[in-house]
Amino acid sequence: MEIRLQKYLADAGIASRRKAEELILAGKVTVNGKVVTELGTKIDDKKDTVFFQGKKVECKQELVYIMLHKPEGYVTTVKDQFHRPTVLDLISGINERIFPVGRLDYDTSGLLLLTNDGDVTYRLTHPKHHIEKVYEAKLFGTPDPTDLAKFRRGVIIDGIRTQPAKIEILEKGEKYSMVRIAIVEGRNRQVRKMCEAIRHPVAQLKRVATGKLELGDLPKGKYRHLTKSEINYLKKL
Ligand code: URA
Repeated sequence: MEIRLQKYLADAGIASRRKAEELILAGKVTVNGKVVTELGTKIDDKKDTVFFQGKKVECKQELVYIMLHKPEGYVTTVKDQFHRPTVLDLISGINERIFPVGRLDYDTSGLLLLTNDGDVTYRLTHPKHHIEKVYEAKLFGTPDPTDLAKFRRGVIIDGIRTQPAKIEILEKGEKYSMVRIAIVEGRNRQVRKMCEAIRHPVAQLKRVATGKLELGDLPKGKYRHLTKSEINYLKKL
């Protein structure tokens, strides 16, 4: 079957499709012994031989889908240059090379998916798919109706307006409030920056859902395999 090189790499669990594109552009991938830097390149998975970092890339691994309740104090990368604990340190007994889907900040807790299914990663993280990510946040102060309206319209962060977002107040306290927020993009530190933009910075942040997948009562630091129906949902996105 003819398949785009970046998809082949993603399916083989080398990296997400976007990351695979970067690897191709950086000249790190060879097809039949020749470096290929053209992103449109199609290969025949029966005939062509693909190498990455001197190793043959094969698409035989089983697909694995995991939901982790990420605690604060872990980085969402496979390896951290500062040797901080990574989310993969919390997972054991999985032979396949899995990758986090998107990112949660070091100080954010909550639902994080990990998989070696490059297609699913691509669909969940590409902005065009508008997958809703839901967060519960503890904010300094309580946003008033004007703040809420601003937030819902979208606010300017890093010079660009965000898409409209949802926010509702769950609890009001003297110093803090609890809110539920839903966004469809995945910009860097987006929720924190949006809350700063309405002058109610985040004190604590937890992701509770990604699309229809919910964290539920999965304990912090624990993970589980997705159910068949959750996997089917992801494949149909
Ligand atoms: N928005 C943030 O600010 N941080 C996260 O970890 C996720 C979304």
